[in-house]
Amino acid sequence: MSSTLRSKLVKDSETTMTELVMPNDTNHLGDLMGGNLMKWMDIACAMCASRHTNSAVVTASVDNISFKSSIKLGEICILNAVVTRVFNSSLEVYVTVYAENAVTAQTRKANEAYFTFVSVDSVKHRPVKALPVIPQTPEEVERFEGAQRRRELRLILAGRLKPSQANDLKSLFQ
Ligand SMILES: CC(C)(COP(=O)(O)OP(=O)(O)OC[C@H]1O[C@@H](n2cnc3c(N)ncnc32)[C@H](O)[C@@H]1OP(=O)(O)O)[C@@H](O)C(=O)NCCC(=O)NCCS
Repeated sequence: MSSTLRSKLVKDSETTMTELVMPNDTNHLGDLMGGNLMKWMDIACAMCASRHTNSAVVTASVDNISFKSSIKLGEICILNAVVTRVFNSSLEVYVTVYAENAVTAQTRKANEAYFTFVSVDSVKHRPVKALPVIPQTPEEVERFEGAQRRRELRLILAGRLKPSQANDLKSLFQ
């Protein structure tokens, strides 16, 4: 990808990662350990973020992750990561996790989460500005528009933004 680009599309950095759930990945009940799933989600999102920025990235935060549907030993875990919105140096990545049973040929959505990465220079690891992303499909536009609200909420929870400074969430705090 050329470094003279001014923006990128979501599909330019979309990343799919596939893992087979092996015995070492599971707990004593034969379910994929939550920590292993979070690690795979972090890796899939990091590859996506880095493909978008063409720089090193670090994980800054992860929004709520709930485990609604366990993934079993022997199932195939498919992780799909897309950039939803770029702010300045930070960018939000949405990851969806699917569990596929190759024997029954059935696939279900097992998890999802929003990660925030920061584009950093490779010498001092300090934040550097990232290229904007242009949403195209209705789904991409919806996630792009919601990203500002999610950013304000996570920065408030991290103690980096005062509720009174929030724009999209102002009505919640009045
Ligand atoms: C993330 C990090 C680079 C931010 O550094 P900083 O000195 O706070 O830099 P800034 O205040 O300029 O913030 C940089 C960006 O990070 C964002 N950010 C910082 N903390 C954040 C958090 N908890 N949640 C979401 N975004 C956050 C800021 O909003 C800002 O975004 P913007 O440039 O798009 O406006 C720094 O805290 C760091 O290196 N953390 C360790 C990362 C790490 O080790 N991750 C795990 C291994 S990859």
